[in-house]
Amino acid sequence: MTNKILFIANWKMFGTKKTVKTINNVIKFSKSKHNKKAKIIYCPPYTLIDSIVKKTKNSEIDVGAQNCHFEKNTGPFTGSISADMIKESGAKLVIIGHSEVRMQGETNLIINKKIINALHTKLKVIFCFGETLKEKKSNKTKLVLKKQLILGLKYVKNLNNIIFAYEPVWSIGTGKVLDNKNLRTQFLYLKKFLKTKYKIKKPTIVYGGSVNDKNILNLKKINEIDGFLIGGASTNSKKFIDIIKKTIN
Ligand code: 13P
Repeated sequence: MTNKILFIANWKMFGTKKTVKTINNVIKFSKSKHNKKAKIIYCPPYTLIDSIVKKTKNSEIDVGAQNCHFEKNTGPFTGSISADMIKESGAKLVIIGHSEVRMQGETNLIINKKIINALHTKLKVIFCFGETLKEKKSNKTKLVLKKQLILGLKYVKNLNNIIFAYEPVWSIGTGKVLDNKNLRTQFLYLKKFLKTKYKIKKPTIVYGGSVNDKNILNLKKINEIDGFLIGGASTNSKKFIDIIKKTIN
């Protein structure tokens, strides 16, 4: 998809118009000669997509949504947003399968429908998957990841328009991160699986879970990681730039 290192900011249910103003520095940095290696993507709440799309218009920063409904266009689904609506708002990507949405009852079947519709709408998909602490403790990680991938990707065709995001649930917002050796092994396994089962030549897999301006120095040593999906630290422009700089330098 891209040879640049991906830095995807998932703002979750954070961010106001005031926060949007603070991304000026990130836009400036993205355009500077110091940045040739980073590709930045903002996934703010729906309410801020329009203003961030406008703000980043003359930059290489892309904007994504954090979820979409499984019906493509319109329908009687109060409180929901369709892939078509997201596309119209100027966003180019959408996060699907985030554990915080799975926890609200989103099944692998629903995720699969969302992925198919989003890709059909010509949105790129950031497909999240990951094991819970309970699954990890009972040595079910590989099994769970495989199941989430297989069910999520059923009948999916444009696999090259998917950014895979491995986010161990137990690592999100906890400050806990798998040690480099095991994380690398996990990425090697996932890449091999996607290459052999789905014939994706160069799968793009990012890591998400408590990435911050300190542990990034360690995480960046894992060559198999194609980028980062960052929650908390991404709403602070200074920290976000710091993470990017430390990775690419
Ligand atoms: P944190 O970086 O806050 O742990 O969140 C990770 C995440 O869920 C990104 O999608």
